[in-house]
Amino acid sequence: MTAQAIESRDDVMRHAKSETLISPRFYKTDYAAMNRLDMSPVRAEWDAMLAEYEGDNNHDHFQRDASFKDEIRELPPELQQEFLDFLVSSITSEYSGCVLYNEIRKHVDNPDIKQLMTYLTRDESRHANFINASLRDYGLGVDLANLKATKAYTYFKPKYIFYATYLSEKIGYARYITIYRQLERHPDKRFHPIFKWFERWCNDEFRHGESFALIMRANPHLLRGANLLWVRFFLLAVYATMFVRDHTRPALHIAMGLDPDTYDYRVFDITTEISKQVFPISLDTNAPAFRAGLNRLLEASDGVTRAKAQGGVIGLVKRAGWTLAAVGTFVKLYCMPVKRHDLPQQMRVAPAW
Ligand SMILES: [Fe+2]
Ligand SMILES: [Fe+2]
Repeated sequence: MTAQAIESRDDVMRHAKSETLISPRFYKTDYAAMNRLDMSPVRAEWDAMLAEYEGDNNHDHFQRDASFKDEIRELPPELQQEFLDFLVSSITSEYSGCVLYNEIRKHVDNPDIKQLMTYLTRDESRHANFINASLRDYGLGVDLANLKATKAYTYFKPKYIFYATYLSEKIGYARYITIYRQLERHPDKRFHPIFKWFERWCNDEFRHGESFALIMRANPHLLRGANLLWVRFFLLAVYATMFVRDHTRPALHIAMGLDPDTYDYRVFDITTEISKQVFPISLDTNAPAFRAGLNRLLEASDGVTRAKAQGGVIGLVKRAGWTLAAVGTFVKLYCMPVKRHDLPQQMRVAPAW
């Protein structure tokens, strides 16, 4: 159930610019602090990673082939709406990365960071443009320059950027690879050719996550003490947002033969496993109390959507009630016991899923 239908380019822009709790955001940060980052504690790993970016094994990947002309077909209306919503929220995330990385690139002269940000901008710009070509097939391309100029920006301290971006790159990998593997097993459920691109695409996201992992490992104070409270917050915020957002797209998941619960918990398992390279704590997403909490959060979010639609004073009161319920549930989830582990000697992980 998408809140508002996407039928025109104005609808697309409104969606891309929307500022709900679960919609992707644009970020600004402290560029001087980014400029001061010292990668020397992880020099060998860092240089090896930059060499991988330099090799650019995906330079020829984001080209459309004949399948886009041959395979695109009319989709049932509900599926088409959810798919468009998926594309618009994906392009907004991809472009959000592109804009942030490019701004950091422009504002720093630290060669390690400048080089990394140049590569990240290159990759995210390819990703955003590739999705945009698919939106244009429906006459619904996003005006990216306009989006950059008019979308609201949220300021995040560098450490919040590291936690949030690391997680969104790794969860992005886990999402794309899980969809890719499912459609590899069930090619009849691949209702659009873009999914065939996800395997090599998600390796870019995986490597982007590795970069932020190395930045955090080079600054170990980010991964201990009171900062773990932030790690915990971002883990929960990213997982909860994904869970709520995915459950607003039932037809999309049915079409791919994925149950949203199974899909989301699989993505959490993969992300949690990878994130042990940096975070000495992880959320116990398979604990029944945790799962019950996410379901309550979903119920509260649906309640807010219904109350908004109802409008008037009663709608407003209901909305306040559901919002309070959501906040209370989030706090309860935040306070649940977490798992603890030591950080591995080997900092990097391979994309083995
Ligand atoms: Fe990307
Ligand atoms: Fe990325």
